[in-house]
Amino acid sequence: MSKITITKPDDWHLHFRDGELLNETVPATARCFQRAIVMPNLVPPVRNRAEALAYKQRILAAKPSGSDFEPLMVLYLTNDTTADDIRQAVGDDIPAAKLYPAGATTNSDAAVSGIESLYPIFETMSEVGMLLLIHGEVTDAETDIFDRERLFIEQHLAPIHSRFPELKIVFEHITTADAADFVLAATPSLAATITPQHLLLNRNDLLVGGIKPHNYCLPVLKRSTHQQRLRDVVASGSPKFFLGTDSAPHAKHTKETACGCAGCYSAWGALELYTQVFDDLNCLDKLEGFASLYGPDFYGLPRNTEQLTLKREPWVMPQEIQLANGDSIVPFFAGQTLNWQIT
Ligand code: NCD
Ligand code: ZN
Repeated sequence: MSKITITKPDDWHLHFRDGELLNETVPATARCFQRAIVMPNLVPPVRNRAEALAYKQRILAAKPSGSDFEPLMVLYLTNDTTADDIRQAVGDDIPAAKLYPAGATTNSDAAVSGIESLYPIFETMSEVGMLLLIHGEVTDAETDIFDRERLFIEQHLAPIHSRFPELKIVFEHITTADAADFVLAATPSLAATITPQHLLLNRNDLLVGGIKPHNYCLPVLKRSTHQQRLRDVVASGSPKFFLGTDSAPHAKHTKETACGCAGCYSAWGALELYTQVFDDLNCLDKLEGFASLYGPDFYGLPRNTEQLTLKREPWVMPQEIQLANGDSIVPFFAGQTLNWQIT
């Protein structure tokens, strides 16, 4: 196959940041996605309807002219979130709220300590039909970083899912066979997103031959058997798994340093990278479901009506992206060849 046409896709998990950076991140995503679930881990975080809608306006102001890209906003759950915050926020424009365990990742200091204290909020979310998005990693200092996701399932996710069977939960950016198997065995109210980096790479790509800071993201890349299981589930065409890039920009100097940031900025090649994975797996027929159909179906939102075509024609991801403030970003897959491009 040298061409593939699919329903226009959406990105069900990414980071746009704020301010000047929106002029880089929003056009990069609007290039190929119709909608995106925008993570709320700003400083300070997006905690209520007013903050979410103000942020949405800043994103829309950075959209390329003529684009009908639509950001979907997310509340950041803190120990101070109230049932009223949830009731006032919920709607098609703010379909979800995000649970970050405190200390789990970039800008998660404001997040929740004692997840069980949020059970009354989950109850309200379940009642009003707001989705719960979860960064699923335990954060205690003693736990090995490679076990954080697996232990989160038994310690937190399984109890939440069984206590709130009607609550729709997205287990975000899953990285392990344990997570894939848990999602497969769960009821239809639990689904997961998978990033391009976790389908394309394993921890050797982070650590062998020298540390590769641009492949460092959270949850951290796992061993190849886990990568293989993620590839298997997307190739199976299960509607429980859909596209969420976790595209997360960090300036080059904050990644190439003694204590580097977590996050891969994949927006410049997001859909093309997924297409490459599905092509490698000989299942391009499964790309549309993963990229364009299962996400809106799970969220209870309409599927997009426009279409998008990719053709098999190699191109090279740039080494660096220059920002207006003089910083640069090294995009995910920098300097490497992608086999597909959007026509
Ligand atoms: C994300 C970021 O930079 O905001 N980083 C990452 O490694 N994925 C945060 C997150 O989603 O964990
Ligand atoms: Zn993320």
